[in-house]
Amino acid sequence: MELAGIQGLKGTVSVPGDKSISHRCIMFGSIANGTTEIHNFLKGADCLATIRCFQSMGINIEETDHTITVHGKGLHGLSAPLNILDVGNSGTTTRLLSGILAGQKFESKLSGDESLNSRPMKRIIEPLTMMGANISSILRNGCAPLYIAPGNLHGIHYDSPVSSAQVKSCILLAGLYAEGETSVTEPSLSRNHTELMLKEFGADIRTLHSLSTAYIKPYPKLYGQKIVVPGDISSAAYFIAAGLIVPDSEILIEHVGINPTRSGILKVCEDMGGDITLLNERCEAGEKIADILVRTSSLHGITIEGDIIPTLIDEIPIIAVMAAVADGTTVIKDAAELKVKETDRIETVTDNLKAMGCNVTPTEDGMIITGGTLHGASIHTLLDHRIAMAFSIAALVADGTTKILDSKCVDVSYPTFYDTFEQLL
Ligand code: S3P
Repeated sequence: MELAGIQGLKGTVSVPGDKSISHRCIMFGSIANGTTEIHNFLKGADCLATIRCFQSMGINIEETDHTITVHGKGLHGLSAPLNILDVGNSGTTTRLLSGILAGQKFESKLSGDESLNSRPMKRIIEPLTMMGANISSILRNGCAPLYIAPGNLHGIHYDSPVSSAQVKSCILLAGLYAEGETSVTEPSLSRNHTELMLKEFGADIRTLHSLSTAYIKPYPKLYGQKIVVPGDISSAAYFIAAGLIVPDSEILIEHVGINPTRSGILKVCEDMGGDITLLNERCEAGEKIADILVRTSSLHGITIEGDIIPTLIDEIPIIAVMAAVADGTTVIKDAAELKVKETDRIETVTDNLKAMGCNVTPTEDGMIITGGTLHGASIHTLLDHRIAMAFSIAALVADGTTKILDSKCVDVSYPTFYDTFEQLL
């Protein structure tokens, strides 16, 4: 994909359904009793991998243009998969599914692509093993492929060393199958879609946000739900940034999830001086939603650190792009988790910003960026969807032409990304 500088992005768009919520609808729908009807499901490669995994464990999942229907078989209704479960590029599928598989009476193996199979899985192997699960890294390198055999699970309290919704959700899902109560505390609260949605499905789950702790009791009867998935704020983030940094722009993004555990990007945009307004704020199935209006603004550098980091972790590539054209210096700290995403995003972001002529320094847990003028360059996405999208927006404010290599990787979370962009021209 080749892109050049532009002015005046104008219009109203909507973004596809939230990736985290779409995964969870399929998983919880599969282990619930009755039918789960999902609207605005994200048909990106990651969530389609989740569908395939549950289909190969005997769950009937029907897809039409607008709806996905999951015919749940209850907590103990999954059947042994005949083949290795293929989780593709998806960390969420791998880690959440492992929590469910740990509680099954059958053996399973799961494996993904090269990037996925190099991401850390000890972070789930250790707590699941403490719960009595039988889970191992087949190559003994702490990564997938994973092998899971039946085990007798018991509840634990787990003090997670990382703020990760995937780790937290994995343990809570195993807790559905464990004797006694299971609880997880994390250093800072990560996205809480599992807690909100499991409650809607009927689970006995409670949270103490002040202590970043969630508690779950086992063997609930879960009931199928009707779910309208909110637009993904992580996808909206690219158009929020475009509206703020492309000259003479005004963009309205409709029906976006603004759950406080996900919406750190909104605060950062405001703190940087962005003109951003939330309209029609409402709540659906426990999730907050709004329409987001952005207008071109002159941004300035800020420091981003501490508890806000988990609420914007996937948005750091696009925040870095905004920082690269803001006045002054932006410092991003406490974000070492970036190193274990689809790529090492400290490296992929800083290498590509440098290629565009930006003054940027990678650090152990983030980066320091001084704003200036960007120049067209070849962007090495390393097949990371968020790098492709963030640098497509950088291209719009750079001199000359920018080439996004392997831009097709946007399919992972936003197959229609370039179509949405065209609606604003
Ligand atoms: C996700 C949690 C986050 C996020 C990922 C989706 C989820 O990962 O980066 O894109 O759906 O739970 P971590 O839990 O590893 O922080």
